[in-house]
Amino acid sequence: MAHSPDSRMWVTNLADDDEVDQLAVDVMDAFGGVDLLVNNAGIPKRRHVKELDIDTITAVMHLNYLSPMRLTMALLPQMLARGSGTIVNISSIAAKLSAPGESAYDASKAALTAFSEAMAVDLWEDGIKVMVVYPGVIDTELFTLPDNDVPDLPVAAEPVSVAVDAVLAGLASGAAQIYVPEWFHGVTANKEKDVGAFLEGTAAYLRDQKQKKEQEQRA
Ligand SMILES: NC(=O)c1ccc[n+]([C@@H]2O[C@H](COP(=O)([O-])OP(=O)(O)OC[C@H]3O[C@@H](n4cnc5c(N)ncnc54)[C@H](OP(=O)(O)O)[C@@H]3O)[C@@H](O)[C@H]2O)c1
Repeated sequence: MAHSPDSRMWVTNLADDDEVDQLAVDVMDAFGGVDLLVNNAGIPKRRHVKELDIDTITAVMHLNYLSPMRLTMALLPQMLARGSGTIVNISSIAAKLSAPGESAYDASKAALTAFSEAMAVDLWEDGIKVMVVYPGVIDTELFTLPDNDVPDLPVAAEPVSVAVDAVLAGLASGAAQIYVPEWFHGVTANKEKDVGAFLEGTAAYLRDQKQKKEQEQRA
């Protein structure tokens, strides 16, 4: 606020549809329009599919997909009227790699991704840009939140500044998508070359990890 005295802040529970609708109304009342919408809020759900239930799947889909799309649809008309605007949707590498043990989260981010890409084309001639961000592993509270399995991260977490810099660079260049870090893009490309082998390899990796842990516990 010190650097931007005209800025405003609203506290909103994005899991509540009425609060999302009210947020859009309040923002429009305060500023008359939105140039840049960043749909960043999201919840993890590290839970094995055998432990999942439909209510959990629904809640994750609601917050990670339906809520940002609700806000987007509420703010889109004023962008269309002005013929300009940028929408940034924070997806996840999980949308592309379908991280095991996180199927509800993966699916919510995959839905966000598919909607974003279709929307980008639908709005191509309207002056509105859509950018999808695929963070890999960024050092945030996402990995320590309760009601989630303990994460077993295969790579070191990147500092938040790496993600911020990548998003700012993506906005400056008008990128349609960015991966953070960029090398994750190569992993998704390798998966697509042979999805069956990728899934088999992932299962083998998890089996090895489990055996190593069991050996360590016995030692
Ligand atoms: N960290 C990673 O490695 C990683 C990887 C891939 C994708 N992402 C995505 O990046 C985005 C940001 O996550 P993060 O890593 O910064 O995690 P985080 O530290 O847990 O931040 C999540 C944010 O979402 C907000 N949020 C959660 N539920 C909400 C609700 N019902 N209403 C309003 N706000 C809510 C949280 O607000 P409160 O703090 O007030 O609860 C918090 O600001 C998420 O969409 C996440 O899925 C992160």
